[in-house]
Amino acid sequence: LAGPVAARDMAGLRVVVSAGGTQEALDPVRFLGNHSSGLMGIGIARAALLRGAEVTLVAARMDHEPPAGVEVRRVVSTGDLARAMQELSPSADVVVMAAAPADFTAADPADRKIKKQGTSGLTLELVQTTDVLASLAADRPSGQTLVGFAAETADSRAHLVELGTTKLAHKGADLLVCNDVTGGKVFGHADTAAVIIDRSGIVAECAGSKDVVAHSICDAVLAERAGR
Ligand code: CTP
Ligand code: CA
Repeated sequence: LAGPVAARDMAGLRVVVSAGGTQEALDPVRFLGNHSSGLMGIGIARAALLRGAEVTLVAARMDHEPPAGVEVRRVVSTGDLARAMQELSPSADVVVMAAAPADFTAADPADRKIKKQGTSGLTLELVQTTDVLASLAADRPSGQTLVGFAAETADSRAHLVELGTTKLAHKGADLLVCNDVTGGKVFGHADTAAVIIDRSGIVAECAGSKDVVAHSICDAVLAERAGR
């Protein structure tokens, strides 16, 4: 095998990671989606697997294949993602919500293709989807470490941390991985930069390939568990 041998410091842990972007049907041929490539979640699944964890990847639409050796559950919409995560969370030691769920879905998806009407435009009525992370936080089993992400367009690192701190409090997760996505940074790129926070502040800062950042996230998870 090529590459360094990772410490098996996650052996015995059941890890559930979500990845990719969900899609909300507008009609039988169209959907609302986003630019998530799935790379960050795939990186975390791979890192946890290398470190000895038993890993399930809940995969929405992704540009890449899941790593060999992880169990894969495919989902399409945020509703599907919510159901899969709610089913898997009770037996998970670590849950990482790296997916980019669509925040809105059609209030009333058409069961036939939406046709153009003359030259007029189209107004869609959208409603909010379930906040999966917040729902997992509300029902989480004791001892579980729950990790969320925050995609923010921030003016500075301090602003990123400020937005992340508000989001972490709102969601009720243990750790939040904050990414600045200003100008399309992060999405689809091999490299990323993140500030990892908990309720008392910054616990780590990391930059590099998503695989390197994934290992930093695993380190932060283990540190959080050791600190209990
Ligand atoms: N998330 C979720 N369910 C949703 C939306 C987001 O579980 N319906 C999760 C994401 O997977 C991520 C975290 O919540 O771990 C933050 O996602 P983000 O898009 O940054 O925040 P939102 O809460 O959706 O708020 P907004 O997009 O308005 O900033
Ligand atoms: Ca969102």
